[in-house]
Amino acid sequence: MFKRYIPRLNDFIRLTRNIWTVNLSESNVCLKQDKYEEEIKFPYVWLRDNCRCPKCFHELSHSRTILIRHFNFDAVPTKTYVTDELLEIEWNDNHKSTFSVPWLTKKQFTNEAQKNWKENVFKDNKIIWTAEQFPRILKKFTFSNILERDSELLSWLESLAIWGVAFIDNAGQTEGKNQLLAERVAFLKQTQYGNVFRVEAKPETTNVAYLSAPLQLHTDLPYYHYKPGVNLLHCIIQGEEGGENHLADCFAVAKEIKEKNYEIYSVLRDTNVIWSDKCYEDGRYYHSIHDAPVICENKFGEIERINFSQPQRDSQFNVPLEHVNKWYNALRAFSELIYSPKYSVRFQMKPGEILTFDNLRLVHGRAEYNGHRCVEGVYLDWDHIYSRIRVLRANYSYQKKK
Ligand code: OGA
Ligand code: ZN
Ligand code: ZN
Repeated sequence: MFKRYIPRLNDFIRLTRNIWTVNLSESNVCLKQDKYEEEIKFPYVWLRDNCRCPKCFHELSHSRTILIRHFNFDAVPTKTYVTDELLEIEWNDNHKSTFSVPWLTKKQFTNEAQKNWKENVFKDNKIIWTAEQFPRILKKFTFSNILERDSELLSWLESLAIWGVAFIDNAGQTEGKNQLLAERVAFLKQTQYGNVFRVEAKPETTNVAYLSAPLQLHTDLPYYHYKPGVNLLHCIIQGEEGGENHLADCFAVAKEIKEKNYEIYSVLRDTNVIWSDKCYEDGRYYHSIHDAPVICENKFGEIERINFSQPQRDSQFNVPLEHVNKWYNALRAFSELIYSPKYSVRFQMKPGEILTFDNLRLVHGRAEYNGHRCVEGVYLDWDHIYSRIRVLRANYSYQKKK
């Protein structure tokens, strides 16, 4: 005789909910979901440090407020309780913490969870390109759409983050359009060339960009420790002849050098070059200096910033005598590649177009020209751009395109 199975309330809950159990190991709180084998472990000290109670944490500002000198580094849980939503912990010093379980699962100390955070919350993965790929990766936006639609603003900023370049058209031929874009993101980045700079041939010029001669491939302001992250160049008037812009993705160039000739790569990465700019603008004298390699890596060995400017590389060169020739050899290899047809792209902007690009990653330049040409430039900073991307994504629960 089989007993008829009558489902009970708990069985339904089990079907629709995640059933969690909690255990304590020597120094971790271990959570386990019934349908998975793996435990998710959180060290006691980390949980206590991230207690969300009002004594430890100020919710509105998302900030930890517990004074570090009052923090109990040795707190141990005495009681734990978990549901599918909450983990409650009572500590041996009479403190109580409550955590959201979905929140905790995102903070797991696993490579996968941390990679997910890095790519989806921290910064988008950059995708490098060659000249051949350029027409496909170059995204085009319309000026008024970016001003009016948050989704368009976000797409523009994502394109900049991923490809390091994007085009905006229909901006008209009046000044001040870059400022509107910059304010739409956050703030203009001020430099010694002002909030806004006008690139046009000027008599008695104080910068070689303000000649009608060719402007070699370069990054702007390598002589700043806090070099501007992004350039916006609005073509207001194009010259009668010439004036084409050049671009190359130096992250792609550096990757090729690293793979084909590690010795040259390491010279470019390890040699501190002195970058400088000395003159005056609007009656204000400046003398800016920064020393940094052409290829700057972060602590994970990822390229973080490229510095390159033939005019702004100082004659002061603080390396041992026997290193000088090695350096010039590496400089030759780098220069040849950024100008090679494999990496270098050229196009002529039309009046009303705005070229936007990552100044930490791309080199840019301009061909010589005849006639009157006028380009208005402003800078943005990556800190503000990434902040804006995160806020826009959160506000609109935007699912990132892969
Ligand atoms: C500059 C510059 C580009 C241009 O002024 O630094 O890169 O198109 N200008 O004139
Ligand atoms: Zn607390
Ligand atoms: Zn420039």
